[in-house]
Amino acid sequence: MYDAADNSSKSYEVAISSLRERLEKSKVVIGDCTLYCEEAEFIVPTLAKVDALVTDPPYGIDIASNGSVHGGTSSPKWRKAQKVEYGEQRWDAETVAPDLIDAIRAKSKWQVIFGGNYYALPPASCWFVWDKETNGNLADCELAWTNLPGAVRRLRYLWNGFARAHNEPRGDHPTQKPVGVMKWCIEHLPADVETILDPFMGSGTTLVAAVKLGKRGIGIEKDPKYFEIACRRIEQAYAQGDLFVSPPSEKPKQLDLEETLSSPN
Ligand SMILES: C[S@@+](CC[C@H](N)C(=O)[O-])C[C@H]1O[C@@H](n2cnc3c(N)ncnc32)[C@H](O)[C@@H]1O
Repeated sequence: MYDAADNSSKSYEVAISSLRERLEKSKVVIGDCTLYCEEAEFIVPTLAKVDALVTDPPYGIDIASNGSVHGGTSSPKWRKAQKVEYGEQRWDAETVAPDLIDAIRAKSKWQVIFGGNYYALPPASCWFVWDKETNGNLADCELAWTNLPGAVRRLRYLWNGFARAHNEPRGDHPTQKPVGVMKWCIEHLPADVETILDPFMGSGTTLVAAVKLGKRGIGIEKDPKYFEIACRRIEQAYAQGDLFVSPPSEKPKQLDLEETLSSPN
């Protein structure tokens, strides 16, 4: 264990090697995707810059335990079904701390953040609006904040219970996004974007979309159950063989831990 009072190089080396071990233990590589089953706050400082952040962080609305979506209300029956299916989960009870959001944003040039309306983000011209074509009490649309140039863009993509565009399968994460929506987001990024980071990947939808578009991905998810699901879905995305283009040329870089500790970022 690192003792701050003991600044000998041995104590430092022990600390570095235990951090490196934790980092390596959490890491899984599938094709051009590097995935970490860890807290984003631990992994993000170790990452070098990526081209784009495309993420869907917790909105702080406690959907996982009360089944209420984005200020809408759901029936007691639906809430009960959610609890039976997902149990009492608290991952969505709070938004991500502002300094973590800042640290994540500092890693990329281009940024797309779902639930941006729940976060304090700079004024932006190009919000993405996903119209779910719902007709009940649940939210009609979801909003993603972006730092892209241009005007607001809207996608109509049906996601209403069992009625889903292209019969896209509904997975095992309570707030799983459709692959079609995440692909649409990635397609709006500049064409030279090669590597995409999702530090709150849940069941891995952003990375499935990235794989299908021939991009590299870095994903972080703290819940081992969702992490497992993400790994299986990303493997399947590669196995399905409908890859759009061959992967980009250079592998994403990871900073060395010593480099990380001495870097201000
Ligand atoms: C809104 S969900 C993402 C769902 C995802 N878009 C999908 O399609 O499956 C947010 C995810 O972030 C994870 N999460 C929350 N805080 C985290 C943290 N500090 N580090 C890593 N993952 C975190 C939660 O466990 C949850 O699965």
